[in-house]
Amino acid sequence: SRDFLIAPSILSADFARLGEEVDNVLASGADIVHFDVMDNHYVPNLTIGPMVCEALRKHGVTAPIDVHLMVKPVDRLIGDFIDAGATYITFHPEGSEHIDRSLQLIREGGCKSGLVFNPATPLSHLDYVMDKIDMILLMSVNPGFGGQSFIPATLDKVREARARIDASGRDIRLEVDGGVKADNIAEIARAGADTFVAGSAIFKAHQPSDPHGYDSVIRQM
Ligand code: DX5
Ligand code: ZN
Repeated sequence: SRDFLIAPSILSADFARLGEEVDNVLASGADIVHFDVMDNHYVPNLTIGPMVCEALRKHGVTAPIDVHLMVKPVDRLIGDFIDAGATYITFHPEGSEHIDRSLQLIREGGCKSGLVFNPATPLSHLDYVMDKIDMILLMSVNPGFGGQSFIPATLDKVREARARIDASGRDIRLEVDGGVKADNIAEIARAGADTFVAGSAIFKAHQPSDPHGYDSVIRQM
């Protein structure tokens, strides 16, 4: 059996209390911190950058930080996030002029690398780089915002990506991002995913009665 990881997307956290929010989801059972970087150019929204990643490390976060770059170009920010303490750095092929070079930059910096696929982006971008990636991230919404609905065609793409990983024989995580909820996560897992991003489903479900605020919602996932 696969080991499943829950990756709360801090995009839906209370940014005024970000350190506390991250501490709470991790104490509630989350495995990794999903960190959405948007540049108002590649996607129509503007979020957080390397200084915030560094601040979380200084705050004492030791869990893996999964940096999802929705930016163009990617290369300079890759270096900044390596320095800021990222664990995974993933980017969209559309954001890089030289995908192979960007992947190498991530690994040379000691981070784990990954490619992100929008709903309409083909998996053929993986063809020549399976040996240079540690994660495949499939978007089940169009990137830019939290709180959107899961696009059902993603399930076939998860099966296709799982088949590619299994055929490669490599240790590559398969992550799904967008509209993941307690009521669809089992189906996404059955299709072959092992890592689940959830933003609004977790951070909009704070329960004051839970010891750390998010225990009951993360337990359901
Ligand atoms: C969307 C981001 C997601 C987003 C997911 O562009 O990449 O990580 O936070 O939010 P939910 O889980 O609310 O769809
Ligand atoms: Zn994301």
